[in-house]
Amino acid sequence: MAITREAILAALKGVQDPDLHKDLVDLGMIKEPKADGVNIELTVELTTPACPLKDQIGNEITAALKSKLGAQAVKLNWTSNTAATNVTAKDLIPGVRNVIMVAAGKGGVGKSTVAANLANALAQHGAEVGLLDADIYGPSMPTMFGIHEQPIATEDQRIIPHVKFGVKVMSMGFLLAEGQAVVWRGPMLDSAIRQFLGQVEWGNLDYLVVDMPPGTGDVQLSLTRMVPTAQAVIVTTPQDVALADVKRAIGMFNTVKVNVLGVVENMSGFVCSHCQKKTDIFGKGAGKRCADKYGIAYFGEIPLTEEVVKSGDNGKPILVSHPQDPASLALKDFAMRVAQQVAITANKGQPVTA
Ligand SMILES: Nc1ncnc2c1ncn2[C@@H]1O[C@H](COP(=O)(O)OP(=O)(O)O)[C@@H](O)[C@H]1O
Ligand SMILES: [Mg+2]
Ligand SMILES: [Zn+2]
Repeated sequence: MAITREAILAALKGVQDPDLHKDLVDLGMIKEPKADGVNIELTVELTTPACPLKDQIGNEITAALKSKLGAQAVKLNWTSNTAATNVTAKDLIPGVRNVIMVAAGKGGVGKSTVAANLANALAQHGAEVGLLDADIYGPSMPTMFGIHEQPIATEDQRIIPHVKFGVKVMSMGFLLAEGQAVVWRGPMLDSAIRQFLGQVEWGNLDYLVVDMPPGTGDVQLSLTRMVPTAQAVIVTTPQDVALADVKRAIGMFNTVKVNVLGVVENMSGFVCSHCQKKTDIFGKGAGKRCADKYGIAYFGEIPLTEEVVKSGDNGKPILVSHPQDPASLALKDFAMRVAQQVAITANKGQPVTA
């Protein structure tokens, strides 16, 4: 008897998305199931192109079809339809599905490094990605991406972002002459952020990654007010003294009712480029302890490596210049966990908004 479409869907009953704990079929993730004799082919639509559970999901589908329908060969095609959390800023950034702020209580912990590489990693998975450098006073992206030209403005005053390494990038640094300082206060910062969101042609994005300035100031308030469903990733370093800064950052996001996705520990151990030995020069574990304490996801550790330091200045994020560096591997893993957490939030419904 021929295997029908219905039989395939019935056989997949009980195969769940491991994160969402719901049947793939009920979630609408199984597309175009068809059989040719005992060979089955179908398409799985993931909630993010950077899904870390792809292999696991594929194995479970294949096992179910083989055991329940006696399928010989199972061919899986993969596609994605990125789950969206941005429902509150539709007027300002209508095509943007998710806004991810990379934040920390203080400077120098690696926010910009993490943000640039998060954007790159997501783009490498095929996602449409934008990167907004919201560190108005200390923009990093001109140096990190090696972009020093002004972006083009259209006749109706829309700004076309630069595209590099597959990422659309906008930074205050593109608009300033080298060495020129910004001395704006609250209201001007507010309108700058509004323009960076609304006046830039971001187009359709799966993710807009925002590199935040340090601390809990005006830019944080402006951004979270304009995009209440933006979500935060907190960067910390391994020392226990860093916890006070993390606590302050999480406290600020809680006050403005912005969802904190999780914490990543950067500069976690030094990996020697000569012998690959890892030394925990700053101690270890503040990130994990903090995630546990606040009940948020832990996104792992990114080691300190020489190549990351160099990459910060040579106009290529480490993921682009040295994709096999230990820090790159950790950053790729981190990016998948972030994408996974965003999809989980989207499925739960929106985080509480003001
Ligand atoms: N994992 C890492 N390994 C080595 N150097 C790093 C790492 N993360 C950040 N850095 C370096 O630390 C400095 C500060 O990083 P940056 O991303 O600018 O931090 P922030 O944006 O929080 O101020 C930069 O010189 C950067 O290259
Ligand atoms: Mg920075
Ligand atoms: Zn060594």
